[in-house]
Amino acid sequence: MESKDLIKHLSSLVHTDIDAIHAYDQAIEKIDYKEVRDRLSDFRTDHHRHVTDLSSLIRDMGGDPPEFKRDFKGFLIEGFTALRSVTGTEASLKAMKTNERLTNATYEKALSWDVPTNVRDVIRKNREDERRHFDYIDQVLQSKPWEGVKAA
Ligand SMILES: [Fe+2]
Ligand SMILES: [Fe+2]
Repeated sequence: MESKDLIKHLSSLVHTDIDAIHAYDQAIEKIDYKEVRDRLSDFRTDHHRHVTDLSSLIRDMGGDPPEFKRDFKGFLIEGFTALRSVTGTEASLKAMKTNERLTNATYEKALSWDVPTNVRDVIRKNREDERRHFDYIDQVLQSKPWEGVKAA
């Protein structure tokens, strides 16, 4: 892949991760069960690291990575499920499951790109994080540890 193309492709991954951070920001506010909230905070940190690592690859190639803005509404209007109208732990997690299905599909597709090894390594590492995020949310939606417990 030509470096101009590669910069464009990596920027699209950064967009996905920035949207994920905003989605986690909203979800974390709506979840009142601490154990789950803490895990989601860790996942948000993973997405921040994805943005940082991808952005430095983009800069190494002379590109200008997408900017992260705290008050920004998101890049992928049609992609991510907005959490604005969602209330409660379970509904928020269901929305995040849909969102993580998207990040997983996006990274899975990125693994098929023809890219240098150092870029491939970052994509693969991020993809493993995304899988972990999805699996946790999927599992906790089945075990529902918040049921019958006072909000913490
Ligand atoms: Fe991510
Ligand atoms: Fe994720």
